[in-house]
Amino acid sequence: MGIKIGIVGFGEFSAKFMHLFLSHPDIDEVVGAEIMPERREEIKQRFGLKRIYESFEQMLELADDVNSVAIFTQRHQHGPMVIKALEAGKHVYSCVPLCCDVDEAFKIIELVNKTRLTYMVGETCYYFPCAIWCREKFKTGAFGNFVYGESQYYHDISEFLYSFKGSGGNDWKKIAGVPPMYYSTHSMAMLFSAIDDYPVEVTCVGYEDTVGDGFYGKGVNHWDNPFSNESAFLKMSKGGIARINEFRRCGTNKPSSFISSLIGTRANYMCNGMHHTFTTGAVYGQESKVDYVSSEINSRRYTEHKNEIDMVHDPIDYKMHVGYSPIHDISRLPVEWRKFDGVEHNGSHVFLVDDFVRAVISGKLPPNHVWDAAKYTIPGIIAHDSAMQGGKTLKIPYIGEAPSDWERLDYKDRIYE
Ligand SMILES: NC(=O)c1ccc[n+]([C@@H]2O[C@H](COP(=O)([O-])OP(=O)(O)OC[C@H]3O[C@@H](n4cnc5c(N)ncnc54)[C@H](O)[C@@H]3O)[C@@H](O)[C@H]2O)c1
Repeated sequence: MGIKIGIVGFGEFSAKFMHLFLSHPDIDEVVGAEIMPERREEIKQRFGLKRIYESFEQMLELADDVNSVAIFTQRHQHGPMVIKALEAGKHVYSCVPLCCDVDEAFKIIELVNKTRLTYMVGETCYYFPCAIWCREKFKTGAFGNFVYGESQYYHDISEFLYSFKGSGGNDWKKIAGVPPMYYSTHSMAMLFSAIDDYPVEVTCVGYEDTVGDGFYGKGVNHWDNPFSNESAFLKMSKGGIARINEFRRCGTNKPSSFISSLIGTRANYMCNGMHHTFTTGAVYGQESKVDYVSSEINSRRYTEHKNEIDMVHDPIDYKMHVGYSPIHDISRLPVEWRKFDGVEHNGSHVFLVDDFVRAVISGKLPPNHVWDAAKYTIPGIIAHDSAMQGGKTLKIPYIGEAPSDWERLDYKDRIYE
């Protein structure tokens, strides 16, 4: 079955995926939907799309032959749009997060379970080299049992202005002030996918914003959210502890999404900037040893250029976070994509699009399916409730597991030789 896919929303982010949707060997046609007329005109010129609809809703109504949609609208819109798309019988790729409401998450799980349509969340960080490295190492048993992990997403509000201001109309600040923990999916996906565990309760505290530039505070945004930064402690189902930071007022740049530590009963992984180590501890007679693993995790182009003068003087150089790393298996990608070494978000975009397409075509369950997406999303929604209640410890509803009779798509499956 060939894929006809409708891209919904042409703000900043979808443009970075268009060359992939347009060139994937198993996508027959790409159509678009965008509510802003000037953006519709721009995408006609820029991407040469033959069919462009005036909204997601119009596309669902008129484009019967389109069997898949990719949702690139603002984050709080995803849940209701995913529900409508699944109800209309479409396979769904959606940018993070899954949704901003617990009931919506359960509704989406129910729909995917019933229809067996593909749903995949576009979690870039699942394919970040540090997450892949920790996931693969953890599976070997080298860490022992999970004890403690820290991951975070640091991104100052000032860097979001293009998207929020450009698409949000007069109310754009009310949307931009979304609780940080409603976007905890990057941090949670990296850590939870590595240790294959999920949290059962959470305690979260918030940093009450003091800047007064109209994003955070009671009555200021749609969520009455006063916090620009939130830190959560989560108890995992097997007893380990996770610390997740979601900061939107912070003097940091890159790395922005990363696992800073993952500690097991036998070994730990630590990251400081571009420096990554794996240390086995002196436990029960085991020899203690430090492996310097930076060159396995950092992008090839960073490693290649790291001794150049600009890399020394400009630690925020783009080479750090662009392109493939040795841990990426690029030999599984469509042949013509293996050369895309300039890909942003640590080389993740190609894997996202390719895994979605493979899942639709094979009917297999992709990575970042709805059960995993919910495990990266619901704990953050509950964490914000905890912060609003002064750090009260709250239980996280159990999401359940993906059906065991639904065959899994493996990240390493090869179909393009
Ligand atoms: N690393 C990552 O995973 C990552 C990075 C950046 C953005 N994102 C996510 O990607 C999504 C898009 O981000 P962005 O920066 O492009 O946002 P944006 O605000 O720039 O663009 C959203 C677009 O959707 C359009 N839209 C809204 N409602 C619509 C409807 N009913 N029908 C058709 N079009 C509609 C808007 O007009 C706008 O052009 C967001 O959810 C964001 O959270 C993820």
